[in-house]
Amino acid sequence: KYERQYFMPPVCEYDWAKKDHIEKAPIWCSVDLRDGNQALIEPMSLDEKLEFFQMLVDIGFKEIEVGFPAASETEFIFMRTLIERDMIPDDVTVQVLTQAREHIIKKTFEAVKGAPHAVIHLYNSTSVAQREQVFKKSKEQIKQLAVDGAELLKKLADETEGDFSFEYSPESFHGTEVDYAVEVCNAVLDVWQPSAQNKAIINIPATVETAMPHVFATQIEYVSKNLKYRDNVVLSLHPHNDRGCGVSDAELGLLAGADRIEGTLFGNGERTGNVDIITVAMNMYSYGIDPQLDFSNMPHIREVYERLTRMQVNDRQPYAGNLVFSAFSGSHQDAIAKGMAWREEKKLNTWTVPYLPIDPVDVGRTYDSDVIRINSQSGKGGISYILKQNFSISVPEKMREEVGYAVKQVSDEEHKELSPQWVYEIFEDNYIHY
Ligand code: KIV
Ligand code: ZN
Repeated sequence: KYERQYFMPPVCEYDWAKKDHIEKAPIWCSVDLRDGNQALIEPMSLDEKLEFFQMLVDIGFKEIEVGFPAASETEFIFMRTLIERDMIPDDVTVQVLTQAREHIIKKTFEAVKGAPHAVIHLYNSTSVAQREQVFKKSKEQIKQLAVDGAELLKKLADETEGDFSFEYSPESFHGTEVDYAVEVCNAVLDVWQPSAQNKAIINIPATVETAMPHVFATQIEYVSKNLKYRDNVVLSLHPHNDRGCGVSDAELGLLAGADRIEGTLFGNGERTGNVDIITVAMNMYSYGIDPQLDFSNMPHIREVYERLTRMQVNDRQPYAGNLVFSAFSGSHQDAIAKGMAWREEKKLNTWTVPYLPIDPVDVGRTYDSDVIRINSQSGKGGISYILKQNFSISVPEKMREEVGYAVKQVSDEEHKELSPQWVYEIFEDNYIHY
């Protein structure tokens, strides 16, 4: 029933496979307010979009796709509001999406008139399936659609007040022959003639993620090596997460030559979502590369995100979920407690604590409430740690096992997690005699 729905490029060099890490932060572009928003059950209101925009600016995003103004009145008004209220910081570029259709492009330019700087993002679908089933057009006709759109963008940009640059996406890239996708991108670039002063963005979307991450990297390597005007082109990626590999696509794609990542906070977006920028950025952070985005107050970012999108961040969401720094089991707790003690004793600047990929404090979490948590799986080390950290009670080595069993037994009977206070009360009932 199912056949593979991707194309290997004509030449595969696999240079990306020789690299083991991303050396510097890419250009990040948040598409929360467009791709993320269009996938919400209840899209954000104007005020909600304004608050979300401000949060993205505070995190440090310099490129933000704010909407598809020709497709929704709220998005049109949002774009106008940002411009008219002068809310776009000088170092931030806003981006709007448009299809390659004349009336849509014209409406888009009405929305961005007067923008201090805006990227107009043109897309059309290039896949075999869409060519045959949806548009019923040949390869040449689909390429022409992109070229016509690119020409109109150029013309209207010259005629409209404001400063504009361009982005092009061959939508449904995975279902497109890779050399044909490059051919279409190059035809668009021939129209735009990008220069060092006015670079163009070519954005490769894994619109529906159907290939394995290493296949995507191989495709990106081919695209990067075969795009015209390469020095004046920013090669961007737009991974979705249908196979659950959006983060890997972004990481391997960057190794393969991409310069920029479009994604969202917590991976919101169509179907299984867009790539989660937080995970890609914090993965870099975890091996010492500054991602140039500030996630030091993750609980705040999460609160704003959940309130405005009405989505919920999963308890296991990397770097942000409620439980991602928690250890309930005895052996993990013991190793963490020892690792923390080692770190303090050796006055280490580097992070080596077992079972914790990063220092939870770096994303606004605390050791007290987030890390060692007590239930029936816990061990004597964790229970002693809680008593020491919270109540300055040093349980003597010889008593630890017994205290551990006394506490665990309550959790077993109650089928509940025990708060530090509850642990203390059990200890008090059994071992403190007034
Ligand atoms: O996923 C996608 O292909 C898109 C394009 C419009 C870039 O969102
Ligand atoms: Zn998308």
